[in-house]
Amino acid sequence: MLDGEEGPARQKAMDLLVRYGEALGAERLVDTNNVCGTMGPTMPALRDYAAAHRLGLDQVFSEFCLDSAEAVEIPRVKVYSCHLQQGLDPERAEQQGIGVQAVRMYRDAAAYFGALGVQPLNTCAPYQVGNVPSKGEHCAWMESSAVIYCNAVLGGRTNAEGRESAGAAMLTGKIPYWGYHLDENRLGSHLVEVEIEPRDTADWGLLGYYVGEVVQEQVPVLRGVRHAPSAARLKHFGASASSSGGVEMFHMIGVTPEARSLEEAFGGRQPRVAFKYGPQERRIAYERVNSTARDANVDYVMLGCPHYSLEQIGEACQLLEGRRIHENCSLWIFTPGATKLAADRNGYTKIIEDAGGFLMTDTCSSVARVVPKGARVAAVDSAKQAHYLPAIMGIQAWFGTTAECIQAAISGRWTGGLR
Ligand code: F3S
Repeated sequence: MLDGEEGPARQKAMDLLVRYGEALGAERLVDTNNVCGTMGPTMPALRDYAAAHRLGLDQVFSEFCLDSAEAVEIPRVKVYSCHLQQGLDPERAEQQGIGVQAVRMYRDAAAYFGALGVQPLNTCAPYQVGNVPSKGEHCAWMESSAVIYCNAVLGGRTNAEGRESAGAAMLTGKIPYWGYHLDENRLGSHLVEVEIEPRDTADWGLLGYYVGEVVQEQVPVLRGVRHAPSAARLKHFGASASSSGGVEMFHMIGVTPEARSLEEAFGGRQPRVAFKYGPQERRIAYERVNSTARDANVDYVMLGCPHYSLEQIGEACQLLEGRRIHENCSLWIFTPGATKLAADRNGYTKIIEDAGGFLMTDTCSSVARVVPKGARVAAVDSAKQAHYLPAIMGIQAWFGTTAECIQAAISGRWTGGLR
């Protein structure tokens, strides 16, 4: 491929991977048959750039995914590949204040990537809609919350790839063999004694937020979790830890697949650092996550970061059914498109819309850089979204449980607190 026997696009892709691998000190490449990437033309900044320079989609792929100023014809992907979240929900352009040109670009890009063989999962939680790597499977995934879930919960092996390396992996089926592909880098570094077990999904987010801040880019091992958390709770734990720190791998003794015992999680080594998570640490995390919030009048409730599972949509619907969202407040819930189809069928979408909210797909407020017009104060049940939304959109964000967020949507006031 590097010699160009399989055409110019795969040659450029292989050249990029070789340069990338050499920069990382990887000794070789490894085969992958599972690539999750986001190719960009619908992301706000790239969309504007591509429109301003009148770039065709082969040009966009060449420039942004293959680091090539020369536009080359892009062939079908070589291995199983899927698309992560996009920069807009094409069915909700009006709510997002998005023009027809951006929607047209979205649809053109969807047809282009579909023809290349990239599956349009369009979500940050591909593992909820069919892409579930097996233990030990070498993957090339982007998106921090997906990467940590793949590594820690499923036992797949991936680093946090970029748009370029993921695009090149799609065309070649190779990725540098380094980082979390190697056994030794997956072992624990920090021991976390969990003294108060989280009670709900938001509480798992707080634990993740605290742990991420302490360990940064190391590998925490949690001991003391007595009840195996649901997939949604593990998802929120990981998403938070990867936001406050750069955590891409964790172990939970007796829960995650590479931590049947403390010895297995640390590979027989001693933890470099040990710390506890008790009521005081929980309060510190809560105050940190809520540090931007001051005004109790809430005008936007955003749920679904990472994208909600059907189970989570069902929980929100139980709280919403028969009620009405406050006239000064908007409720947007984000989920993968495939999950929305199921929600449409079983009546969840109707419950949300009857209450005055929207069930949206493919994107989220932080990635699309869109909130309801005029929104100043948000409420979220995701520590990750509370971390990013104020920084990206310049608004305040309250963090609490799903029930507190739904209550805020109904009353237009934040009444949550640490309990
Ligand atoms: Fe997903 Fe957006 Fe959160 S892409 S993880 S919902 S910031």
